[in-house]
Amino acid sequence: MLAAGILGSTASSLNWAGRSGAGAVVTKSFGLNPNKGYANPTTVEVTGGVINAIGLSNPGVENFKTELEKLNKSVPAIASLYGANPEEFSEIATRVEDLVDALELNVSCPHAMGGCGSAIGQDPELTREIVQSVKKSVKIPVFVKLTPNVTDIVEIARSAEDVGADALTMINSLGPGMRIDIETGNPILNNKFGGLSGPAVKPIAIRCIYEVYDSVDIPIIGVGGIRNYEDVIEFLYAGASCIQIGTSIMYEGMDIFGKILTGLERFMDDKGYGSVNGMVGIAHK
Ligand SMILES: Cc1cc2nc3c(=O)[nH]c(=O)nc-3n(C[C@H](O)[C@H](O)[C@H](O)COP(=O)(O)O)c2cc1C
Repeated sequence: MLAAGILGSTASSLNWAGRSGAGAVVTKSFGLNPNKGYANPTTVEVTGGVINAIGLSNPGVENFKTELEKLNKSVPAIASLYGANPEEFSEIATRVEDLVDALELNVSCPHAMGGCGSAIGQDPELTREIVQSVKKSVKIPVFVKLTPNVTDIVEIARSAEDVGADALTMINSLGPGMRIDIETGNPILNNKFGGLSGPAVKPIAIRCIYEVYDSVDIPIIGVGGIRNYEDVIEFLYAGASCIQIGTSIMYEGMDIFGKILTGLERFMDDKGYGSVNGMVGIAHK
């Protein structure tokens, strides 16, 4: 799948990811009202990835709906939602339910404003209330995207599963982290701090998935630093049933989906795997 926040703000870029081999696409996270996010610079490169503090900039649910209506539906579309409380999440969810195949609740952004993002996903009770409220409001599947920035990710995963989450997406960006310009002495990002993503976070994502896999019965969608088919295999072996790709599109372009599919198919042929299902959780055996 295309991960939330990377080329997911318009129907044309989401459709492009679908045409490029993504099995499903996740939109940029959107909220109830338009949000400008943080001022530039919002993204900076670091060794092994990027740090971003975009601040969930988005045009609000009503404007986003015009993009969702233009999706060509060649692959399933998943709307990524954020809000500050159960009522806001449920309101957005009901407004887009008829336009997408599933929802992904972003309770995990490390640089969200006003009590959104990881402020929710670091609290098992708040997570539970939000997932429960959305599950009562819609009939389509509800995925919950978790933050790695917690002491015990298993506790949060179980809270979401207990109230009916259909799948868990792991992980959102890590940190926050920071970079400083050595010429000026100033922080590089306007927000000073931002979430780390890209190949550097992969070992953390693998560990989170490995830990949660043994404790829940719902599927895990793996995300965090995937750049090639070998990375995908590691995620499957850790316990993910499918995966998302975000930052590596900045290095490889949309061709990454096709390249990974070719490599994965070859590997599966060589090893005699008839389906991805037979590869999920192998590292636990
Ligand atoms: C520029 C940028 C914007 C992002 N925006 C969102 C977002 O709107 N919602 C969300 O849930 N995650 C967002 N993410 C997090 C990614 O979806 C993903 O969870 C994380 O970056 C780790 O995967 P990756 O290393 O493949 O990018 C964003 C990441 C980046 C780099």
